[in-house]
Amino acid sequence: MKKTTTVLTYGTYDLLHWGHINLLKRAKDLGDELIVALSTDEFNQLKHKEAYHSYENRKFILESIQYVDKVIPENKWEQKVEDVIKNDVDIFVMGDDWKGEFDFLKEYCEVVYLDRTNGVSTTMIKKDLLIGTNA
Ligand code: CTP
Repeated sequence: MKKTTTVLTYGTYDLLHWGHINLLKRAKDLGDELIVALSTDEFNQLKHKEAYHSYENRKFILESIQYVDKVIPENKWEQKVEDVIKNDVDIFVMGDDWKGEFDFLKEYCEVVYLDRTNGVSTTMIKKDLLIGTNA
């Protein structure tokens, strides 16, 4: 019998902020091990999203966070079922901006959408820095 509970979440995690930490902390609290599937620069390009920090540096930063046990690459939309099976995942977690989008994974594991933290996002930080304000 499996003794540990493995949690998996996805994201770009660029310009790390407290909304990200809130999400990662609550995700880790749901189990014993937290895996973050981190969008690669190539996948971000496909999503028309450009990260300030490179994949390698975003991975380096995430791996330094106490709630994160492992970082794996997210290369494409279609890899989730395979990731869940390969990593023996018990709980799939995303912020509730994705509510309902990944319910198809319920066949393989528990699916949890956590409340997003209000008032901060990478997009907002980039915009605020451009116009010279701060939150
Ligand atoms: N997240 C959150 N609260 C925020 C911002 C993000 O809970 N204020 C969560 C997202 O729901 C997701 C994870 O953090 O599960 C990674 O989100 P990501 O898209 O990388 O961060 P954002 O700040 O939302 O970036 P962007 O503005 O580029 O979409």
